[in-house]
Amino acid sequence: MPATQMEQLVSLCKRRGFIFQNSDIYGGLQGLYDYGPLGVELKNNIKAAWWRSMVYERDDIEGLDSAILTNRKVLHYSGHEDTFSDPMVDCKKCKGRFRADQIGGVCPNCGSTDLTEPRPFNLMFKTTVGPVVNDDNIAYLRPETAQAIFTQFKNVIDSTSRKLPFGIAQIGKSFRNEITPKNFIFRVREFEQAEMEFFVKPGEDEPWHEYWKQQRINWWLDQGLSKENFRVYDQKPDELAHYAKACTDIEYKFVWGFDELEGIANRRDYDLGNHTKNQEEFNLEAHCHENKESTTKLCVRDEETNKLYVPFVIEPSMGVDRATLAILTEAYTEEDLGEGNSRIVLKLKKHLAPIKIAIVPLKKNSAEIMNKCHELKKQLMKLGIGRVALENTGNIGKAYRRHDEIGTPLCLTVDFETIEQQPETVTLRDRDTMQQIRIATADLPAYLREYFA
Ligand code: GAP
Repeated sequence: MPATQMEQLVSLCKRRGFIFQNSDIYGGLQGLYDYGPLGVELKNNIKAAWWRSMVYERDDIEGLDSAILTNRKVLHYSGHEDTFSDPMVDCKKCKGRFRADQIGGVCPNCGSTDLTEPRPFNLMFKTTVGPVVNDDNIAYLRPETAQAIFTQFKNVIDSTSRKLPFGIAQIGKSFRNEITPKNFIFRVREFEQAEMEFFVKPGEDEPWHEYWKQQRINWWLDQGLSKENFRVYDQKPDELAHYAKACTDIEYKFVWGFDELEGIANRRDYDLGNHTKNQEEFNLEAHCHENKESTTKLCVRDEETNKLYVPFVIEPSMGVDRATLAILTEAYTEEDLGEGNSRIVLKLKKHLAPIKIAIVPLKKNSAEIMNKCHELKKQLMKLGIGRVALENTGNIGKAYRRHDEIGTPLCLTVDFETIEQQPETVTLRDRDTMQQIRIATADLPAYLREYFA
């Protein structure tokens, strides 16, 4: 997708109600976006596809929904208070502030090379909990959803009787005070993550890492990303996060080049080890902070040796906003229809489309046609195929154009033949081929269930 098409995609997102600048009427707040009526449907469908593949279609993963505000101790012992920072520099000439590793020694604002020495800038948003503002009440907005999965590890095991290997999945908001948010919803300060922590026996971690790489590649291809826009990158040792033994990035070819959609990390026993009391009892591989405050040992018993051990963790961690941007980028298509005509189509996979079917009346001022449209909408909603929209522009051409642009797979048109002839029929128009078929309304439920299966 060329850069100009990216601008058109951003404009479509606003015009059609996918994504808006946050607090737009006050000039926005940098690095924050709001999802509009169609954006929320698309994002929910992406999250549902992830949850289905992680939780419903497997027998070894449980779900969790934890609080966003996080006890300071959690992020102290996880290492985030000390190490979750980016190198920041100031331009002494224009006073701009940037990430040192992204600007190559020259101010991107004014070109000056007169920059301060890089210094670490912690990315966590700090706040206080309760009416008294002091250091004892400091909490953070979580910078990743993962930490609560680790701190709830014991409660989940105790309440579900799970045995290793098994995982805990969570989708939710995370917050990072990025020095330079950029590229629309790619790098923002408030975003959603879909993370799964898969707990395995030490020594079995590497095959499980390979396994999850393959699972996640397949999932992304199922969401419609094409192989040529997709790359898998194994991080070099100096690129790894403070907790990781290995990490594979899944990257997508955005307008500005390949960039990260998801990281699949081998976090070893780093996190469970850090949050565990009496760490010295365990043969931990990862270097841990000494922890005298935890009340629990986050460990399991080896059934063969009867010894306690701290599991290793494999973590596929996806950015939901980045997924949304990649899926929109891939789907955005401009088609030349010949004779000076063209159209924009969002070729979204059916399961991701915000609206599954649009009911279009041939004439909006015909009471009989409108009544039939309302009746059909009620019937189709009950099928459980997703959102059914009723168009009331009264202009079929416009309705088709709008639904092509927002990725609605099917438009169903009610015309005079529908209400005058028996058996009662409607037309169904396919978004991608623009082919139309005539179908009896009695056959619609079976047809649509099969189509959206
Ligand atoms: N728990 C592991 C973890 O948080 P990460 O690589 O820092 O690892 C995982 O983040 C994913 O979260 C990234 O691959 C990306 O998709 C998404 N992500 C991270 N920072 C983001 C930001 N500022 N804006 C949007 N998405 C972000």
